[in-house]
Formats: sequence, C-alpha cells, structure tokens
Amino acid sequence: MLKKILVIHGPNLNLLGEREVDVYGHFTLEEIDAELKKIAKDKGVELDILQSSSEGEIVDKIGSARGQVGAIVINPAGYTHYSVAIRDAIAGVNIPTVEVHLSNIYAREEFRHKSVIAPVATGQIAGFGVESYKLGLQAAINLLK
Ligand code: DQA
Repeated sequence: MLKKILVIHGPNLNLLGEREVDVYGHFTLEEIDAELKKIAKDKGVELDILQSSSEGEIVDKIGSARGQVGAIVINPAGYTHYSVAIRDAIAGVNIPTVEVHLSNIYAREEFRHKSVIAPVATGQIAGFGVESYKLGLQAAINLLK
C-alpha cells in the first residue's frame, strides 16, 4: 500500500489570506498545509504538496505520481473549469483523486458551475472553506489501498 498522498494547489491559491477573503476566507495556504500535515501525521501518511500556477507543471506532477502515491487531493482552482490537460492527466494515471474547492462553485458565477475534472475524480468536496481540504484529505486516506 502506498501511504503517500499528493496534494496539489492550483493557480492563485498562494494568494490565500489576501485574495477575495469574503469568498475564500482568511486562511493562508501555509495554514491550510499545516492543518493537512497534522492530519497526515496523526494518520501515518506522508504528504507531497505542490502549489503551482502552471498547468504544465501540474500535468507533469500528476504524470510522475504513478506508482509513487496512493491518492491525490487537488484544488485545480481556475483550471477546474477548462483544463482538458489536467483532466487527461488524472484519467491517465488511474490514481484515486479527490477534487476540492474552498467555495461552493455551484453557487457562484455560471462559468464556475462546470468542472471538467469532476468526471475523472473519485469525488468532489466544495463549499466548506478549509474544511473542504481536511475532508478531502480524510477521503483520500480512506481511498488508499
Ligand atoms: C476555487 C474555485 C475556482 O472557481 C477558482 O477559480 C479558484 C478557487 C475554490 O477553491 O473555491 O481559484 O477552486
């Protein structure tokens, strides 16, 4: 069993804490990662965390995860709504993947209602702020084979 989980934060999530705080809250990415690391330590799993605003880097990271990680937690951020390349990478590696969003994308602008990632993810958690990540990590841990 691979006890390693890949966590990917997509574009602009490095700006959390200052970016649209009414939508995304006051937590910084470092604080979210600290919460995730606590859960991982408690559950005895290892995390590999990447924040990238580059679609290609995210695609390459997913591609190199094959055989290395047991599950993926990804907030694809703006790429959620149109990145066929990230969708294809997830479909290609066949690793259980949990899609997470801080905000409820279905309660926002219409262009956010569609996720091209959702059909290839094992499941999606959206709308609970930092809790979305914590629930997502818990779901990913449960998916480890
Ligand atoms: C987001 C929602 C996306 O629509 C947006 O582009 C983001 C963040 C979220 O976590 O709520 O950057 O993925």
